[in-house]
Amino acid sequence: MGLRIVAVLAVLMGVTGSPSGTVRPETVSVDITAHPNSVPETAEEPGQNVELGEEEAEEDVMATGELNPNHYPAQRAAKVVQHYLTTRYGSPYRLFGLQRVHSGNAEDVADTGRKYQLEISVHEIISNTTQKCSAEVFFPRGEKQQSPQVQVSCEELLNISTKAQEEALYQQYKMNQSLLSAQNLPDSHGHIEPDMKPLWHLGIVASSFVMLKESTENTLYNMAQVSNITQLATENDQLKFECHTLLHDMVSQEILPWKLLFTWSAAEGVKVLQMEQLPHCHSCEKPPNTD
Ligand SMILES: *[C@@H]1O[C@H](CO)[C@@H](O)[C@H](O)[C@H]1NC(C)=O
Ligand SMILES: *[C@@H]1O[C@H](CO)[C@@H](O)[C@H](O)[C@H]1NC(C)=O
Ligand SMILES: *[C@@H]1O[C@H](CO)[C@@H](O)[C@H](O)[C@H]1NC(C)=O
Ligand SMILES: *[C@@H]1O[C@H](CO)[C@@H](O)[C@H](O)[C@H]1NC(C)=O
Repeated sequence: MGLRIVAVLAVLMGVTGSPSGTVRPETVSVDITAHPNSVPETAEEPGQNVELGEEEAEEDVMATGELNPNHYPAQRAAKVVQHYLTTRYGSPYRLFGLQRVHSGNAEDVADTGRKYQLEISVHEIISNTTQKCSAEVFFPRGEKQQSPQVQVSCEELLNISTKAQEEALYQQYKMNQSLLSAQNLPDSHGHIEPDMKPLWHLGIVASSFVMLKESTENTLYNMAQVSNITQLATENDQLKFECHTLLHDMVSQEILPWKLLFTWSAAEGVKVLQMEQLPHCHSCEKPPNTD
């Protein structure tokens, strides 16, 4: 298990750089490749140059006022917007990535929490469309950890219709005699069979519900891998899936396994019924340090 994950991360690091040594924006904004060690020095876009010192992560936790858009506090809050958009509007044919943070501001809101105001570029990966969006992320303060609240306007990204493709996929899955299943999306070579991409995307959308719910000012969650996804029999129109997924918190460098139960239909989108954090995989908590 440990070895396999190390291999996956190593491969992901390897695939982010194109031969010219620059970064293809779509690979940066696809979650799986956003391993800290993959942030290349030659990144052309300033927003991709997240500076990732652990000390800096600690020091800047409560940064207030105008933020450096390339540093952790702004990047962490902006990542929450990506997860929010994916939970609300993601589908097998619509996935969002954070392309760049242009500016950010953070302030305390009395005793209730902290509010970030952000200007970001969001990338819809499948249509390869990018839009600049204004967003507000509020992290409530309290005894019990609560999900951040997000407001964002990104209309242009949302009015690209994917309904026809979703309906076709839904019919295909629904009509199929056998239940679908897949493992290791992507595999240890970073590869995914084209047929399996919609399932992988469904796993990412479902995982975004966890990443949104678990996000705080001190986390930066990315998708590492869908370990496996299995379709379950259902009586109604909703297709049902069980999914084991690995999330990566770039701040703590932990790989976090979760088990999800969710439904999907073209009409209703993804609905997560259960999410369960599984025991840490100790041998795979720390991805290899390549410094
Ligand atoms: C996505 O769009 C950008 C900017 O328009 C372009 O440079 C890039 O080649 C496109 N990527 C793909 C995979 O089509
Ligand atoms: C999407 O929204 C933008 C701005 O609201 C509008 O200009 C554009 O025509 C819309 N595109 C589609 C395909 O509806
Ligand atoms: C039905 O499922 C099987 C097994 O997963 C797969 O090989 C086949 O391509 C599927 N058929 C359709 C029409 O999706
Ligand atoms: C999916 O992966 C988890 C964790 O590796 C494992 O415990 C589970 O048995 C797997 N399920 C299937 C159906 O392969």
